[in-house]
Amino acid sequence: MKIRGTTWLVTGASGGIGSAIAKALSDRGACLVLVGRDAHKLEALKAQLPQSDSHRVLAVDLLAADGIDLLMQHLDGQPIDGLVNNAGCNQFGWFAKRTHNSLSDEITLNLLRPIELCHRLLSEKIQPCWIVNIGSTFGAIGYPGYASYCAAKAGLQRFSEALDRELSAKGIRVLHLAPRATQTQLNPSVVEELNQKLGNHSDSPELVAEQFIDLLLHEQRSRFIGWPEKLFARLNQLLPGVVGSAIRRQYPLIAAALDKTNVEHPQ
Ligand SMILES: NC(=O)c1ccc[n+]([C@@H]2O[C@H](COP(=O)([O-])OP(=O)(O)OC[C@H]3O[C@@H](n4cnc5c(N)ncnc54)[C@H](OP(=O)(O)O)[C@@H]3O)[C@@H](O)[C@H]2O)c1
Repeated sequence: MKIRGTTWLVTGASGGIGSAIAKALSDRGACLVLVGRDAHKLEALKAQLPQSDSHRVLAVDLLAADGIDLLMQHLDGQPIDGLVNNAGCNQFGWFAKRTHNSLSDEITLNLLRPIELCHRLLSEKIQPCWIVNIGSTFGAIGYPGYASYCAAKAGLQRFSEALDRELSAKGIRVLHLAPRATQTQLNPSVVEELNQKLGNHSDSPELVAEQFIDLLLHEQRSRFIGWPEKLFARLNQLLPGVVGSAIRRQYPLIAAALDKTNVEHPQ
């Protein structure tokens, strides 16, 4: 595929992975619509990008009921070639101690909004040829402390697969990229410490952006980043007991980390 001269809408562009993807796309000559909540961060990113004047900024809260309407108004029927559904959030905590609102926001931002945004763009004839949904290793591996996030990212992976199978014959590709732990603001210090204790590797956002470009250039339907996460994602489908045993061995460290969050162990 050719990136130069194409227009891409990137949600979560003010965040770690989103800004790295925005830089990688603009370095290759794409024009961007940068979406996030923080207008200052988005403007600062835009100013750093090559051909800064060719990019646009849209500050919108995608959790707000009218978030997608505002985004569509901003696009005003102008075509875009690519959409990156990257905005996301999560909270590491004991499931039973999470609030209803935090669960609802996690499912809405990571799953419902990407589906709604695809639907609005496709049904209103702003037919992007490329949709890339940013999932997670946790979409393929249920992990303690992340039950609802795992559910949302698993849903996003199946959604991507189904829509790609529906649309690829019409020349529209729906791809899925699943990073493992990445060094961004998403992960609080308790999660970073846990990853260190467990020996989990944490990637840079720039590495994720390189993988994003490679996925696009190879038109690869779905990609999990990193070993052994890539292997465990497959193994969990075939032999979930093996992955479950490995996670049980990690459980004391995971439970201790969960106890350190503001969400306490259910009695
Ligand atoms: N970091 C990891 O370890 C990791 C691993 C696997 C997958 N991922 C996935 O990668 C994607 C990017 O995450 P990240 O690590 O780059 O996180 P991040 O640095 O925290 O960035 C999150 C982005 O989402 C935006 N966002 C959050 N809530 C929003 C809302 N209500 N409306 C609009 N935008 C909102 C933020 O915008 P503002 O800052 O402007 O509010 C920010 O641009 C997410 O889908 C995440 O699930 C991350």
